[in-house]
Amino acid sequence: MTDGQKPDPRVELSKGKRIAQEDRLPQEWRKSAYERWLESEGIPVVSGVAVPDLRAVDVAPWPRLEVRGAYIRLLGAEDTNNAYIAELPPGKTTVPERHLFEEFFFVVDGRGGCEVWNQAGGRQAFEWQTGSLFSIPLNCVHRLHNGSGREPARLLGVTTAPLLMNLIHNSEFLFNCPFVFLDRFDGREGYFGGEGTLYPGRVWDTNFVADVQRFQLHDWAERGAGGKNVMFEFANNSLCAHISEFPVGTYKKAHRHGPGAHVIILNGQGYSLLWPEGEELKEVPWRPGTMVVPPVNWFHQHFNSGAQPTRYLALRWGRVRGPGPPHPPHVHRARRGAGRPGADGRLLGPGLSSGPCTRTSRNTSIWGARVTPPSTPASRSASAARGSISALRRPTWCSPTWCSPVKAGTCRAGTRSCSGTYAFGPA
Ligand SMILES: [Fe+2]
Repeated sequence: MTDGQKPDPRVELSKGKRIAQEDRLPQEWRKSAYERWLESEGIPVVSGVAVPDLRAVDVAPWPRLEVRGAYIRLLGAEDTNNAYIAELPPGKTTVPERHLFEEFFFVVDGRGGCEVWNQAGGRQAFEWQTGSLFSIPLNCVHRLHNGSGREPARLLGVTTAPLLMNLIHNSEFLFNCPFVFLDRFDGREGYFGGEGTLYPGRVWDTNFVADVQRFQLHDWAERGAGGKNVMFEFANNSLCAHISEFPVGTYKKAHRHGPGAHVIILNGQGYSLLWPEGEELKEVPWRPGTMVVPPVNWFHQHFNSGAQPTRYLALRWGRVRGPGPPHPPHVHRARRGAGRPGADGRLLGPGLSSGPCTRTSRNTSIWGARVTPPSTPASRSASAARGSISALRRPTWCSPTWCSPVKAGTCRAGTRSCSGTYAFGPA
């Protein structure tokens, strides 16, 4: 319909019918298969953009695995993948399970063991500790054991469950399929021994990393002096991982990409700025244990404003070993570069003589994390962390080459060779 025209009564009638019909559809149909499955699990679900501290996520009894847990369903995952916390009480072993979705484990705290086996006779066991990273090969039966008799052990799982749930929408099949993926797990001795092959491009093909904090990284000059990185291919998965480290007083190149990059801060202090094209910036401050998933196609940039290099782990889509699921390419907004302290001690981007990029102590920074308690009364005691992400000032872009055309020419740094950060205009 154009301005001045009367609405077409036939169109209006069909709209009305459609609304009336939708009102009569079962309420349950408005939930995805993944959402219904989450409810059936009976543990809290953390949502939002970031989790302030994986070590502090409230967990509740998880009957299916006989441990304690909470799901993490952050906006930026878009239900292509998800995360969860599993906390094993002292000496506890999880109920064995297998499933048709991939699963990475990062050990947040504790030590213990894991057994993995399949119907073809392959069976391996290995030990893990704080900082270990491993993946359960697809559809292998597995169970985790807390090796401490006094302390709980806490692990982060990142899985492809939402995608499979919404595609197959039959959990009985996803958890009880007998197919053996010999291309994922051949049962050989040393499968989880931590051996690996290093390929060009800093790509490690392995199945176990004992400690991501201590894993040797390689220079990545293309992303700026001082930056280090290693890419991981695990268990012939579609999910992959990488570790990056960047020096004190520097920031990472701003970029944007598709869903599901779970970024876990391993050490250091700083913050990330995130923004949809042309809109206001949001700030997520971080510390060791923070996890953030940048929303789809939001530019994001990480700043190290602490006193030591920052290292982070990313669990995500985008494997380099053969074609994986569609993964939108990275789009870069600005180059990575070195910042420096300003007169007031705040971190400045290159070319700026005054005015902070931002600082970590802003009270306006918040996580946006919310917790939905399980529907079972017994576990409703999980407390809710509530908040909303607040807006920062709009940036004035510093380079017409790299920055928004809308803001081009307003740069205070004002050179095309600017190495890429932005200057902030008046609040
Ligand atoms: Fe990213």
